[in-house]
Amino acid sequence: MNARAPKGTADMLPDVARAWEHMQRTAQRLFARYGYEPVYTPIFEHTEVFTRGIGEATDIVSKEMYTFEDKGGRSITLRPEGTASVVRATLEHNLVANGQSAKLYYAGPMFRYERPQKGRMRQFWQIGAEALGMAEPGIDAEVIVMLMRYFEELGIPRQNMRLLINTMGDENCRPAYRDKIAGFIREHSTALCEECNRRAETNPLRAFDCKNPGCKDVMSEAPLLRDELCDDCAAHYAAVKSSLDDLAISYIEDPSLVRGLDYYTRTVFEVQVDAGLGSQNAIGGGGRYDRLMEQYGGPATPGLGFALGFERTLLALEAAGVAILGHPVAEVYVARVDAALGGAVFALVQELRDAGIATETDYQGRSLKSQFKQADRLGARAVVIVGPDELAAGEVTMRDMTTKDESRIPLGEIAARLKQLLG
Ligand code: HAM
Repeated sequence: MNARAPKGTADMLPDVARAWEHMQRTAQRLFARYGYEPVYTPIFEHTEVFTRGIGEATDIVSKEMYTFEDKGGRSITLRPEGTASVVRATLEHNLVANGQSAKLYYAGPMFRYERPQKGRMRQFWQIGAEALGMAEPGIDAEVIVMLMRYFEELGIPRQNMRLLINTMGDENCRPAYRDKIAGFIREHSTALCEECNRRAETNPLRAFDCKNPGCKDVMSEAPLLRDELCDDCAAHYAAVKSSLDDLAISYIEDPSLVRGLDYYTRTVFEVQVDAGLGSQNAIGGGGRYDRLMEQYGGPATPGLGFALGFERTLLALEAAGVAILGHPVAEVYVARVDAALGGAVFALVQELRDAGIATETDYQGRSLKSQFKQADRLGARAVVIVGPDELAAGEVTMRDMTTKDESRIPLGEIAARLKQLLG
């Protein structure tokens, strides 16, 4: 058998898993301050949720989905992102009926069959937030601020990040612009790659995102949607920028930022970093999707949100020299002078755990010296030594691993003394 994890996936070993848990806890704490509640949707959905929501012509839907038929003959897809599922769930459970709104966040694995490279996985982990039922431009700024604050709270210095924003217009102004870009691509077909030429027919705006330098040159001369917005979209975009200015959030307007999902309307944004990520420089991104709920047969419901990638954020943190320190595996280690004391040791270990102290002990008959080594390795702040003489006197020895001080403590007081030491 092949005993390796599939290509493009990675085991999250304890150090990385601790970082993931830290990132989730930080999100829970911060997002709660902005009024967001947790939501968990299935990891797979009916394929249509994604084909309709994300768009047939996107790379995600046309090339990258893990789609299969289940035993009941249904077409099922592992979620490539979270927004489509959250909107489907919001509609299914009527969360925004009668003019209500909902602020939801989620965290979990996503699946895209991409060519794996640094910061690009086939199974990757996202934290995302979606605000449904709110059309005001102020909420666009609020969502962007929450994302920036999140990265800052984790420890990515503000100057390492670039916030790009753009507008995608809406159903009033985008179709004419889309046709214009399709025409522009046809006019410049010989200077553009095959894929961009194909895009003229399927998804012309994606040509702005082509990595080919020749195509980039040509597309830099293309007309910009910013100049062709309808009045409402222009006003919305101006108000978002002015709210960001009021909040002193610096941003770069990037008219070529088109993002890879078709559901976007109006505001889109992306946070990029240079260090640590190779060519995958977006650590998070999002935007508005005011028509998505209608694509599922629901009522017109504005929405917007973002998602950030765990692996890329971790790379950005590493590049910034930020170590995410996990909790020590054990706060206290109970060592025994000889193996015959096992019964008393296990009772004490249990007592300390019941008192809320992370406690570890030896299960392998190690020497006292190697028990101390293990205590060090686990990061224990104190070692409690259980010996026959002390035990006969109803006491144990407590060693402070920082100061190296040792003292004899009555068994009945040890939990309280340790709690004092641990603060
Ligand atoms: P996205 O830009 O496709 O947006 O993904 C968001 C983030 O997920 C990216 O910035 C990146 O950090 C991470 N990511 C994406 N693909 C991969 C991959 N193959 N490997 C590692 N990390 C990856 C969305 O998914 C939208 N649902 C965001 C959104 C929420 N828009 C509105 N609401």
